[in-house]
Amino acid sequence: MSLRRAFVGSLSSDGGGVVAEAPRVPLRGIARRFWPYARPYRPLLALTLLAVMVAPVVDAAQIWLFKLLVDDVVIPRTLEPLWWLAAAYLGLTVASGVVGYVDDLLGDWLGGRFSLDLRTDLFRHLQRQSPAFFEGRRTGDLVARLTGDVGAVEGFVLSGPVDAVANLMRILLFAGLLAYLNWRLALVAAVTVPLFGWVAQSFSARIRAASRERRRRSGSMTALAEEGLSAVALVQAARREGGEADRFHREGEAILRAQLSGTRLRALYGPAVDLIEVAGALAVVLVGVWEMQQGRLSVGGLLAFMTYLTQLFEPVRSMGSLLTGLHYAAAGAERVLEVLDTPPAVTDRPDARPMSRARGVVDLRDVTLRYPGALRPALDGVSLRVDPGETVALVGASGSGKSTLMRLLLRYMDADHGAVTLDGTDVRDLRLHDLRRNVALVAQETVLLDGTVAQNIALAHPNASRERIEAAARAADAHGFIAALPEGYGTALGQRGARLSGGQRQRISIARALVAGAPVLVLDEPTTGLDAAAAARLRAPLRRLAAGRAAIIASHDLEWVRTADRIVVMDAGRIVEQGTHEALLARAGRYAHLWAARGTEAG
Ligand SMILES: Nc1ncnc2c1ncn2[C@@H]1O[C@H](COP(=O)(O)OP(=O)(O)OP(=O)(O)O)[C@@H](O)[C@H]1O
Ligand SMILES: [Mg+2]
Repeated sequence: MSLRRAFVGSLSSDGGGVVAEAPRVPLRGIARRFWPYARPYRPLLALTLLAVMVAPVVDAAQIWLFKLLVDDVVIPRTLEPLWWLAAAYLGLTVASGVVGYVDDLLGDWLGGRFSLDLRTDLFRHLQRQSPAFFEGRRTGDLVARLTGDVGAVEGFVLSGPVDAVANLMRILLFAGLLAYLNWRLALVAAVTVPLFGWVAQSFSARIRAASRERRRRSGSMTALAEEGLSAVALVQAARREGGEADRFHREGEAILRAQLSGTRLRALYGPAVDLIEVAGALAVVLVGVWEMQQGRLSVGGLLAFMTYLTQLFEPVRSMGSLLTGLHYAAAGAERVLEVLDTPPAVTDRPDARPMSRARGVVDLRDVTLRYPGALRPALDGVSLRVDPGETVALVGASGSGKSTLMRLLLRYMDADHGAVTLDGTDVRDLRLHDLRRNVALVAQETVLLDGTVAQNIALAHPNASRERIEAAARAADAHGFIAALPEGYGTALGQRGARLSGGQRQRISIARALVAGAPVLVLDEPTTGLDAAAAARLRAPLRRLAAGRAAIIASHDLEWVRTADRIVVMDAGRIVEQGTHEALLARAGRYAHLWAARGTEAG
């Protein structure tokens, strides 16, 4: 297994600067936390360890055969021992091939399995997080944790330790053989090798610092690119293209500088190391020839000695960088752990109750919720009951808590006080999946997934028949434009459905809710962002969708709101008025005020 593979993953990950550092975790804690991912593969891991321990033995034996070849065949010029030497050579070569094959294949297999298991777990964990979790984080950073940092963990738990065992074995064995061949000569080596190790170590620390800086910078560059590209329309509208490109260029300059300083170090490192190696070899030759004159060393012995010595440098060097790399890999592990250790804000209770189909009686009882860090509650003692077949319109100024109320119904988060109930059961006592099966959401902005129109409509019921999908699309007034698409229902929608207009997207979203067929319906400003004509066109589909369900619809479209069974007016997290359009007008309160002011607002 190569050292490079062990740590190359961590190089590509994002970190520093734009993204906050993860909390520190002691090395032992990291090992303990990730060991379970390696545990199922223990037998194979043992086999890999065996292979990497046998490999140096085979190498050492081959070099020893070379010594015998020189001393017993070449110098005396006899052919006799050649036959068994040749047979042993061939045998060892085959053995070394087998060991190398096992080591390479098993190493890759183990590392790959480990990473895949961990990555999938991490992804699964991320999928269970509530929307608030993602609001506070950069997607690019999470992707980096899923990819590069998982690779770093693998280096830490598997390939790193395996490499360490392989190196240690080689160092001990070869050093022992040096002493066995000639201890006086071994003393000379005992000066060279540590000197070499020290130089290699100090260089590698600096090279690492440079590449860490480069990695951090390229993390920010990725973040900038991601932001700049996804918000390109905004950037152009604000005429910020030049400024964005300048920032991009500056980060690129910094990367280049870090890269060049790394290259300079590496370029110096080669000659410095060569110098030590050559000086060491010359010293060994000097002392070695003296020892030969004294009859304490054969020609083959000296050659074997020099070979062992040169082969000792690499494991010593790589041992040093393994140690430095340890902390480096630990940083990646900490970033993975930070996510894994964040429990989803909302989970099933162990004794959560199943619920097949609800009647659809929604009841909020004195619900209060304050977002973490917010000064005042977003919902403050809200009580609201909605019965099946009833359509309730939520109106209120921006920030009055309408979306928050809806998030509670889907349990994207839980109330601090009070309770949200469905058919009289606290939603916290229900299984999340059952709750969400019974509550369909149409959000302000429709998110379309990569897939066909039909797949997008049948999101909640992937096995829905084509008839059912089409019926839903007709009811949602979407069939017409879908049929006009190049491949109708089979047309692939790009991510976010950029090819559809806002109103078309909303109609797909309504069709989606129709297919879901939940008894409770939550619509968060389904017509915001649409022009008056498109909004008007949604009214009939929305009415068809709400029919027969308990529907809660936040809307600024007062023409639509007036037709609701009940209108609930919110302000600063409280319900301040409720009743029918007529009743509220008669009250001459806030709703009447809103109604009088309608149309004077642009758009
Ligand atoms: N994720 C969040 N973290 C902290 N505070 C939040 C968060 N989301 C909303 N808030 C705050 O909670 C309050 C209610 O917000 P909410 O989104 O529910 O209002 P809204 O009535 O839906 O407004 P709009 O009409 O603009 O959609 C606001 O003061 C808002 O700033
Ligand atoms: Mg809102």
